[in-house]
Amino acid sequence: MKVHRVKDLLVEDLLLQEIYVKGWVRTFRSNRFIALNDGSTIHNIQCVVDFENTPEDTLKRITTGAAIQIKGTLVESSGKGQKVEIQVNQLDILGDSHPDEYPIQPKKHSLEFLREKAHLRTRTSTFSAVMRVRSALSFAVHQYFQRNGFNYVNTPVITGSDAEGAGEMFRVTTLDAKKPPLLENGEVDYKEDFFGKETNLTVSGQLEAEAYAMSLGKVYTFGPTFRAENSNTSRHLAEFWMIEPEVAFMDLDGNMDLAEDFIKYVVRYALDNCQDDLDFLEKRLIDEEKTKPQSERSEMTLTEKLHFVLDNNFKRVSYTEAIDILKNSKPNKKKKFQYPIDAWGADLQSEHERFLVEKHFKCPVILFDYPAKIKAFYMRLNDDGKTVRAMDILFPGIGEIVGGSQREERYDVLLEKVKAMGIDEKELWWYLDLRKYGTAVHSGFGLGFERLVLFTTGMTNIRDVIPFPRTPQNAEF
Ligand code: 4AD
Ligand code: MG
Repeated sequence: MKVHRVKDLLVEDLLLQEIYVKGWVRTFRSNRFIALNDGSTIHNIQCVVDFENTPEDTLKRITTGAAIQIKGTLVESSGKGQKVEIQVNQLDILGDSHPDEYPIQPKKHSLEFLREKAHLRTRTSTFSAVMRVRSALSFAVHQYFQRNGFNYVNTPVITGSDAEGAGEMFRVTTLDAKKPPLLENGEVDYKEDFFGKETNLTVSGQLEAEAYAMSLGKVYTFGPTFRAENSNTSRHLAEFWMIEPEVAFMDLDGNMDLAEDFIKYVVRYALDNCQDDLDFLEKRLIDEEKTKPQSERSEMTLTEKLHFVLDNNFKRVSYTEAIDILKNSKPNKKKKFQYPIDAWGADLQSEHERFLVEKHFKCPVILFDYPAKIKAFYMRLNDDGKTVRAMDILFPGIGEIVGGSQREERYDVLLEKVKAMGIDEKELWWYLDLRKYGTAVHSGFGLGFERLVLFTTGMTNIRDVIPFPRTPQNAEF
């Protein structure tokens, strides 16, 4: 017999038909009413047990968290907030859940508490909603690029190059835990790397994606990336997923158009396809805002925030203009910036980025033409000799969501830059080769997928939008 999913029961016309569902008990009241969730939707289905004809032992085992299967009849419900319910004819316990031990009780748990239970937290409404939205966004990413003629490229996770030149990498070793190679002093010899070579986990698939753009024309990656930065913020992970399109014959203006169009597409997709989950998350956010002091509350609801991105043109502002604005601004009447901007050339902190988006321009912002000194080696040098064709996209509540650039396509200029930045040119021989054989203008960007999920779901900590977060404190699961 076909197993029905709760989502379908709520929309399809199945009244008075025989229904077969499997799921987990959220609550069981009055020895009669089960709220069952099977993960297909934010909504539970009420299942009404005929307790007089159900063995006492079975009734006792219907506890929060237990896995059960039910055969019954779908009927109209007189209960509040639900159109249909299942009149149970047969109920089997598939997996017990000890009521005193199961950590996810039917009450409000804090997000911090649930982070410690990463393996069970998707049993809650909040996390299941977030993860369904995450899944829909992933699908939308592929749909957007596939519909627009991009090829999906899988770039290596283990690599010999540091794409960002920032030195924030995790080394890979071929350590045999039972027989580790030892130094003379008895300590483990970590130099024994990837079969004798020094390698690391990738910080970005960009360099390899460039190689593929220079043959397939339009490509994108979507995979895990790793950063060994010890940042304990609500926006940084040690392992995150990045989407990196790369396009031959496209300049920085084209790159900005692509990024804006892409982001609007995926946010629109979520609004159109995840309505119930987003409604739930919007209510959650309103409740959370109420717990904050008035001055810290967001002025926008989740839906308003999403429309803020969809309905506005992203404001394009040069780094130099932004610095002038910041030099003459205060985040509010009393306070100065924690890191005041005093000179051209300074890197922007997230307080500056958020000020520009949330207070000054009041729309998403694309900053471009940054000082060469604060950006990576591969960015196209402008004719002024001191700025590069870089862009960052800044979002409300998030700060930087995208980093990208037009790439330096001139062999001599690139080689000089690599040397000037103290990077070993031998490591990048193949990357330099691309500038020797049929080089061309090309551009791309990286979007941090978790930052997109954070924005779309209205969650406030990046640890809550990836199933098993990897941060300096947490890699337990
Ligand atoms: O600005 P980033 O470092 O750019 C690059 O890696 C380029 N190679 C991308 C490219 O041009 N193909 O990172 C890109 C984006 C950031 O804007 C941010 O959204 C996200 O990746 N990101 C992180 N997300 C979570 N945790 C971290 N530690 C992140 N570091 C970057
Ligand atoms: Mg960046």
